[in-house]
Amino acid sequence: VTIYVPRDAAALALGAEKVAEAVTQEIAARGIDAKIMRNGSRGMFWLEPLVEVEVSGKRIGYGPVKVKDVAALFDAGLESGGDHALCLGEVEGLPFLKEQTRLTFARCGVVDPLSLKDYEAHGGLAGLRRAADMAPADVVKEVTESGLRGRGGAGFPTGIKWKTVLDAVGERKYIVCNADEGDSGTFADRMIMEGDPFVLIEGMAIAGLATGATKGFIYIRSEYPHAIATMTEAVEIAGGAGILGASVLSSGRAFDIEVRTGAGAYVCGEETSLLNSLEGKRGVVRAKPPLPAHQGLFACPTVINNVISLASVPVILEKGAVFYRDFGMGRSRGTIPLQIAGNVKHGGLYETAFGLSLGDIVERIGGGTATGRPVKAVQVGGPLGAYFPRTLFDTPFDYEAFAAKDGLIGHAGIVIFDDTVDMLKQARFAMEFCAVESCGKCTPCRIGSTRGVETADKIAQGIEPEKNRALLADLCNTMKFGSLCALGGFTPYPVTSAMTHFPDDFAPTPLIEA
Ligand code: NAI
Ligand code: SF4
Repeated sequence: VTIYVPRDAAALALGAEKVAEAVTQEIAARGIDAKIMRNGSRGMFWLEPLVEVEVSGKRIGYGPVKVKDVAALFDAGLESGGDHALCLGEVEGLPFLKEQTRLTFARCGVVDPLSLKDYEAHGGLAGLRRAADMAPADVVKEVTESGLRGRGGAGFPTGIKWKTVLDAVGERKYIVCNADEGDSGTFADRMIMEGDPFVLIEGMAIAGLATGATKGFIYIRSEYPHAIATMTEAVEIAGGAGILGASVLSSGRAFDIEVRTGAGAYVCGEETSLLNSLEGKRGVVRAKPPLPAHQGLFACPTVINNVISLASVPVILEKGAVFYRDFGMGRSRGTIPLQIAGNVKHGGLYETAFGLSLGDIVERIGGGTATGRPVKAVQVGGPLGAYFPRTLFDTPFDYEAFAAKDGLIGHAGIVIFDDTVDMLKQARFAMEFCAVESCGKCTPCRIGSTRGVETADKIAQGIEPEKNRALLADLCNTMKFGSLCALGGFTPYPVTSAMTHFPDDFAPTPLIEA
């Protein structure tokens, strides 16, 4: 019998390590013929630690399990799927999981993250094998035709980026994986690196074969120690198995990967700062052009993609562009791992084709707020994303549909707030965040964000509110059009959306009227 206890950071934060120890002790004390397997998370965080047991080919789940529950679970016959108040039945049958379309996250939570055998048994390496037999331009064409767009947030077509690097002339070329996942309420990159690291390695190796790059770097934020450890171990295993190295899968073409750790600056998720940081320089933004695709890492042509963009490539190569682009709506093709967080009943990762409405995601899938109070606002796309009110709940999850409503889907983080939230405070927080994280290179962001905090404070204190509201709007306009990168340029999204959709929160009683 195999008993699964997750090793994912979210499960560990909820006590999974102690639960695993208790399970090990019970197995030994009762002389049960069972082994423990430390899997990734299924992404249903309200059920973590989720303990599973495989019975007649089916995975029966129990959760959330606390250490004090473990003995009682074994009394109830956990090892044979016995009934208990925490028993959830077949895990794959739970509506939250059953209704997903798991293409990128197909193996996450299912397999042993560091077992190549398990990886291959669940479809792994089929994409890389196919890519190794194809001409580079054909691999790029397949990715272009799949419609895959950058999952880091900007949604730039991945195939076009790869083609730019394939066509660029350079002594060396690089694949850089941006794993500096900094958006509030996001965890998709972390979850896949901890739960299925080989899929990222496979995606990067395919990118290498497709563009002629021979070296890859995974830049992981220092706040992700478990992801760093798992990825490092997985890279070593892949190297030992001939998946990486001088001849990838005996193709005669070389590709290697190194894991690098960031130092904790949000702006290092911006691609050019990330490249500076990788080169050992201070993490400040570089002006574009030149694009990294032309002159990136050490001035060489560089593909820089988010974790999820790269991890989505193996399934595209395995099943073909047509299979992948069949999912989705409009120009948003394939699936997107929604990360549902904040004040929500059922928070977690939900991979689905583009096109679900925001209301459906929040109310039906997320189950509404954890407090049971009405939803007031939903911030989509991280700290630089717009706040959407309930009146925009019919917006489908799609790059263009969100842009048309002055929002962005970004890295698909969805943070939910109930009716006790003060939107003026949220607007102030956006400005404060920008002031703290600004790299300082350009004036609108460096100075504008600090003035933004002061202006929000004046509105809150009722000092000339009308004048200061106009000033804040004007400041947002300057930051949006005058900033060098998305940090300063996108901070206006949360601020202006809060002002537009929740004007009552910006109208306190004036102390001194102009
Ligand atoms: P961007 O639109 O400037 O660029 C997108 C990508 O396409 C870049 O890699 C760029 O080099 C590439 N590109 C653009 N034109 C190209 C061309 N003609 N040929 C080849 N490549 C080309 O957007 P940027 O500033 O890179 O990203 C902004 C986004 O980042 C925002 O939408 C935001 O949602 C997201 N973001 C994500 C975070 C996360 O934690 N994942 C954190 C903060 C922001
Ligand atoms: Fe740096 Fe802010 Fe300017 Fe971006 S917008 S380059 S973070 S100062």
